[in-house]
Amino acid sequence: MRNITVKIPATSANLGSGFDCLGLALDLWNTVRIAVNEGAENSEIKITGYGLGDLSTDNTNLVLKSVLNVYEHVGIAAPNFLIHCDNLIPLKRGLGSSAAAIVGGCVAANQLLGEILSIDELLVRASEIEGHSDNVVAALMGGIKIVAKDNASLMTASVPTPNNLKTVLFIPDTSVSTLNARNSLPSMVPYDDVVFNLSRVALLVNSLATDRLEGLVVGTQDRLHQPHRIPLFPPAGLIMKEAIKAGALGAFLSGSGPTVLALARGREMTIAYEMAEAARKANLDGNIMITDISASGAYVVNDSDEELK
Ligand code: HSE
Repeated sequence: MRNITVKIPATSANLGSGFDCLGLALDLWNTVRIAVNEGAENSEIKITGYGLGDLSTDNTNLVLKSVLNVYEHVGIAAPNFLIHCDNLIPLKRGLGSSAAAIVGGCVAANQLLGEILSIDELLVRASEIEGHSDNVVAALMGGIKIVAKDNASLMTASVPTPNNLKTVLFIPDTSVSTLNARNSLPSMVPYDDVVFNLSRVALLVNSLATDRLEGLVVGTQDRLHQPHRIPLFPPAGLIMKEAIKAGALGAFLSGSGPTVLALARGREMTIAYEMAEAARKANLDGNIMITDISASGAYVVNDSDEELK
C-alpha cells in the first residue's frame, strides 16, 4: 500500500506589526502519514501527541477535510484513507497548529495525486480552508514570508532570515481561541494606528533583509491587534516587556496569542529565564522553548511501500 509521510512546521504569524501579512516557520514539526484505506468503508484517523482525545477523527478532522478538499478541487473521487497525525505543535497557542493540519492534508493529497497542483495552487487551497494565509504561507514555504492577496491570487515574497536569529517562546498552559481573538478586533481603526503599523512593518522587513537587527524592537511594535488581544491574556504585555529588557531584539504575540515570541541573537537563555519569571509572577504556568527559524516548509519524507499501522 502506498504510504506518504509529510512533515509540517509550526508557524508564527504577524510578527507584531505585520498583521495578517507576515509569517515565519519554526523548527517544531507535526507529522502526517497517509495511505489509501483499501477496501474499507470509512477513513480512519489516529492521533498521537497534542490533540489525542480532543481533535475529531471523522470527516471534520482538518487533515482529512483538507485531503478531501484537494480531491474535490481536482475533480477526482476520493477513496477512504488511513491517516496518522503525530502532533508536536501545541493546539490553540498561536503556533499554527490548524495551518499545519491543513497544509499537511493538502500536501499529502497532492502527493497521492502525483503532484497535480503547484505550490502556489496549494497555497490558495490551504488559505481558503484556513481563512487567512500568513500561517499557511510559512507552513508551506518555510522561512520568513510576506503574503498579499491580489483579487483571487496570493502574491508571496521571502524575507531573508538573518544568521543565527533565534526565537524564544513562552507557551502558556492556557489557550486562547483564534476565533475569540479575531472577534476582539474592532471593525475600524484610526488612521494614526495604520500609519504606526505601516512604518513599522516596512522597518521590520528592512531590518531583517539588511541584518540591521537594532530596527526590530521598533519594527515589531503593533497597534492593530495586540492592544485588543492582550486584555484576553494580560500577562503577555509584561512577558514581552521583560524579554526586551533581557536583551530580546523584539517581542510580540505569536499569531493571535497567547504564546509570546521573542527574537534573539545571543542571550537566549537569559531572555527565556526572564520571560518565565514574568509568567511565574503572574501565576501563569507554561513552557519555554528556544527554536530556530526553519528555512524549510512542509516536505514529503518518503514514499514507501511499508504498511501504515
Ligand atoms: N493573522 C492571524 C490573526 C493569525 O492574527 O488573527 C492567526 O493565528
